[in-house]
Amino acid sequence: MAIDRFGRNIHYLRISLTDHCNLRCVYCMAEDMTFQPNADLMQDNEILLLAHLFASLGFDKVRLTGGEPTVRANVVEIVRGIASTPGIRSVSMTTNGLLLKKLAQPLADAGLQRVNVSIDTLNPEKFKRLTRWGKLEDVWAGILAAEKAGLAPVKLNAVAVKGYNEDDLVDLAALTVDRPWQMRFIEMMPFAGATDVQVNQVVTMAQIKQNIESEFGPLEVSNNGELDGEAQVFHIPGAKGDIGFISSVTQPFCSSCTRARLTADGRLRLCLLREKEVDLLTPLRAGATLEELRRLILDGVWGKPWGHGLADGLIPLNRVMSEIGG
Ligand code: 5AD
Ligand code: SF4
Repeated sequence: MAIDRFGRNIHYLRISLTDHCNLRCVYCMAEDMTFQPNADLMQDNEILLLAHLFASLGFDKVRLTGGEPTVRANVVEIVRGIASTPGIRSVSMTTNGLLLKKLAQPLADAGLQRVNVSIDTLNPEKFKRLTRWGKLEDVWAGILAAEKAGLAPVKLNAVAVKGYNEDDLVDLAALTVDRPWQMRFIEMMPFAGATDVQVNQVVTMAQIKQNIESEFGPLEVSNNGELDGEAQVFHIPGAKGDIGFISSVTQPFCSSCTRARLTADGRLRLCLLREKEVDLLTPLRAGATLEELRRLILDGVWGKPWGHGLADGLIPLNRVMSEIGG
């Protein structure tokens, strides 16, 4: 088991399959973003070897992220390999949904259990402005394909950005009235790459909840008030689905954190919002033994930072979000 020095059992691994993306969301990256060369990213066999190692240390839950994980060549085969790794009980993915229309069924057949799809507005023009060129209808087709393929319950993510989509969140929340989906609102977090937007255009969970309640009345608590992953969950009275709030900035959930991340270039990142990383790919390529790699992982986990330092103005600037994996 991988335990940190605060006694947290770290067993949830988020693997970024690539830092590349087919969109350029304003809260994530600059329009002229340059990506890492493929040779610097983990190769398929390296991802699978590391997944086996993590599983042997008690990691049982994997989420694939990016960048955009579906733009990675062989994504279906990678999912198959991870899903069949002994000890891994669940494999899910966070995606922008653009390619799901084609990929949802093959991914489900390969062992993917669930997807979280990003959709920040239901207005096609605003969607294009926020993502710089995305077509909302492609995402919508992707969501429906995911549901059809049994990648359920469908969870949707919206990052609230002042001046872009803060007036659209009520419409997104309304999706849950007739559909058994979970619509999750995420407070924008600051990284390098788009720091100005991220710091100055945050909409807090309290503001979002208030907007939704002014339309639908008080939300009712779901899940007995327990966190669902990192989300506080509620529902509109009588609705089929839930509404989640991920308030990383105003109400951090660090004390119950169970995660570690593997960046696309093979670094173990202990906290999304802290710069500390442990390089696993370089030793792996240099011929380190499995035992040596296990030791690096366990020592890294032991030194996992308690939590982020946003309240003290500490913003992680060594990476953009798409390199770390959301
Ligand atoms: N703050 C919060 N969430 C972000 N995401 C991307 N950038 C940020 C940010 N700065 C979200 C995406 C996606 C998930 C991977 O992370 O919208 O839902
Ligand atoms: Fe791509 Fe996701 Fe970043 Fe948007 S938030 S640019 S879809 S990685």
